[in-house]
Amino acid sequence: MANNIVVIGTQWGDEGKGKIVDLLATHCKAVARFQGGHNAGHTLVLDGKKTVLHLIPSGILHDQTSCFIGNGVVLSIPALEKEISELSGVVDIFAKLRISNACALILPTHIALDHAREKRRGDRAIGTTGRGIGPAYEDKVSRRAIKISDCLDEKKLKEKIERLVSYHNFLLENYYDSSPLNALDIYEELIQGYHRIKAMVDDVSIALASINQNNESILFEGAQGAMLDIDHGTYPYVTSSNTAAGNAATGTGLGPRDIHHVLGIAKAYTTRVGGGPFPTEIFDNVGETIAQIGNEVGTSTGRARRCGWFDVPVMRRAIINSSVDSLCITKLDVLDTLKEIKICVAYELNGKRIEIAPNNSDDFSRCQPIYETFEGWMSQTEAVQEHKLLPEKALFYLSAIEKLLGVKIDMISTSPDRNDTIILKDLIND
Ligand code: GDP
Ligand code: IMO
Ligand code: MG
Repeated sequence: MANNIVVIGTQWGDEGKGKIVDLLATHCKAVARFQGGHNAGHTLVLDGKKTVLHLIPSGILHDQTSCFIGNGVVLSIPALEKEISELSGVVDIFAKLRISNACALILPTHIALDHAREKRRGDRAIGTTGRGIGPAYEDKVSRRAIKISDCLDEKKLKEKIERLVSYHNFLLENYYDSSPLNALDIYEELIQGYHRIKAMVDDVSIALASINQNNESILFEGAQGAMLDIDHGTYPYVTSSNTAAGNAATGTGLGPRDIHHVLGIAKAYTTRVGGGPFPTEIFDNVGETIAQIGNEVGTSTGRARRCGWFDVPVMRRAIINSSVDSLCITKLDVLDTLKEIKICVAYELNGKRIEIAPNNSDDFSRCQPIYETFEGWMSQTEAVQEHKLLPEKALFYLSAIEKLLGVKIDMISTSPDRNDTIILKDLIND
């Protein structure tokens, strides 16, 4: 049977989802994004050539794979066009990409509000990507959003934009002491952009249903990670969408029974970009070494990523929230030079041992990690493509993770390159 697979990040994002989706897409008919927007930064590397994607699904480099942006994504047309132009000459995006007509749009006022809110929060700032993601989802949930399908009726669209921008401007001017934006300019930029991309707008749910009926595999590509989920993450230090696997169904319009496998992607350590609690964060030079070897710089914003040890309580929550069937451990090679490697196996909170990360930030920020220390393998795993070639101590580290989580590792990634991946199970055909 050809399986439909949801690929999600099980930590705080940047786990290497893009690389793994690109690899799995070799054998899939479709790759669909279901949440987030261009806050995501997904890196693909093939034979040394790097491609960074923000909105466009990570299956785009494969000839036989169609790509979809589902209704759950908040879409910035200028960001999409920028990405299309960066890929021009490499891929014919117009032939390969379909965008749901139900996507809510990100407008310039959403970006202005995102910045104004962050500024107002001062030292409580979330550290958003500044892409307008939160304000765009707010409008969607408040039933004020402009959806792509609204562009079909230009007169009504203009009125809707005038109403929405007037509301945004009221907030910007009166609450945030910020400058208003011009509704007519926003309308004109939007309608022109829409006409340039409208050939790709489609009913994505129906298109995916037809692929599914033909028994061809669909990959659902998660953005961000489990601990950034609006409901299950370290609220309010989260993004504004559900990153959990269940949203692959609602964010595309294919039903939950059409998901056959959930693959959780986790780094062999942990990183976080932006504010918020991070119990296993490393503040000494080991953290700096990991950041340097792992090149832990944000793909979207260029910010330094905070580094920490592998966090089992976080992973346990992610596994519960998303029914994670199996794992892919990435960036094993980054730990190659370390003498000692720690795994946080539980937390201490208010004098008690807890096994699963708490679901509120206050408790989370008071959790003290309880570590088990492992001997480093001090040899090269970088670019290793066969399981039997991994050093004994690396295998011991990986099997400790499996035992602690009770979930199997089906894939191991040993470099940014698509081919440097150990595949222990064919997830698509089983
Ligand atoms: P995503 O957001 O989950 O797709 O991850 P990002 O692309 O933002 O960040 C992951 C980074 O790690 C990228 O620079 C990848 O090229 C890189 N990467 C992915 N897998 C590996 C790996 O196994 N080893 C190393 N050294 N780098 C990796
Ligand atoms: P990928 O898909 C890592 C973080 C931001 C901030 C918080 C809210 O590449 O893994 P937002 O702009 O979404 O309102 O910011 O979420 N964040 C990410 N961190 N990887 C991402 O995406 C992220 N997308 C958002 O840094 O802390
Ligand atoms: Mg990323």
